[in-house]
Amino acid sequence: MTVAAVAGQVPVLDLDRFGTDRRKLAEEAGDAYREFGFCGFINHGLPAQVIDDAYEIFRQFFALPDEVKQRYRSTAGGQRGYTPFGIEQARDQSIPDLKEFWHVGREMGEENPWPDILEPNFWPVEVPGFETKANALFQSLDELGKRILQLIAMSIGLAPDWFDERVARGNSVLRAIHYPPIRDKDTPAVRAARHEDINLITLLIGSSEEGLQILSRDDTWIPVTSIPGAIVVNIGDMMKRLTNHVLPSTPHRVVNPPGAKSGEPRYSIPFFMHPNPDFLIETLPHCISKERPDLYPSPITANEFLVERLREIKLL
Ligand code: OGA
Ligand code: NI
Repeated sequence: MTVAAVAGQVPVLDLDRFGTDRRKLAEEAGDAYREFGFCGFINHGLPAQVIDDAYEIFRQFFALPDEVKQRYRSTAGGQRGYTPFGIEQARDQSIPDLKEFWHVGREMGEENPWPDILEPNFWPVEVPGFETKANALFQSLDELGKRILQLIAMSIGLAPDWFDERVARGNSVLRAIHYPPIRDKDTPAVRAARHEDINLITLLIGSSEEGLQILSRDDTWIPVTSIPGAIVVNIGDMMKRLTNHVLPSTPHRVVNPPGAKSGEPRYSIPFFMHPNPDFLIETLPHCISKERPDLYPSPITANEFLVERLREIKLL
């Protein structure tokens, strides 16, 4: 069986096949994305130590007193550093999500064509090793994301390396999220209300913790409790737009746990992979046909698209 396992109903594929059976693997990933907008991968090659270290530093950070965390309050747009509880709300929602988070962006070094967009990171001095460990996870996920994008490119008839240069200086963000224990059991708010991701693809580790649900084609919520060690990768709205909805970005949410479990915190670390800020999101010609007319005749840059969305989710 080529599909290694099934988490809920979302396929989980074996990335070891990248070296031996890439074309078929790309086809199967493409099938999963067209159907679910989500796909799991095992043997993804992320070192367990890098993941464990990252969870440890982020846990330590979130456990710091409020006034310390506030020192790292993100700048406009919330794309670097700390965003407190009760700020972000999903599009079309009237109440904020039940989460706080920390964003790590790309380290640009000397060469930064967009210093106002690819802003410098913040590093909390209170947590030893934070910078090194956070960057290690960022880099591993960036590499892995490029491999997944190669599969996606192949699955829609693009050259395998089509995305490589287009994401090389992308405004990708690693988001460490802390969902605290639910204090008010009757709250109408949820940990993360129904939403679609903004970016090209999202890589989600920590998906073994319960709570994530995705909306299936028949409008029912299916839980994604992935097998241990798997990473879940989903399509975001930039990819949906680029492919003229050939690859859908599936709505998903994180629900509040029932009973005693509501007293437990939840941590997760999505990596939002973005194109370079000046990348033009222009419908791919071969995703346009008589049956599928171009839904987006006017292109938009990745950064314009991002800014528009940040306003909608109250980060700008
Ligand atoms: C997100 C998201 C899922 C999770 O931050 O966009 O969908 O499991 N997170 O925290
Ligand atoms: Ni999401």
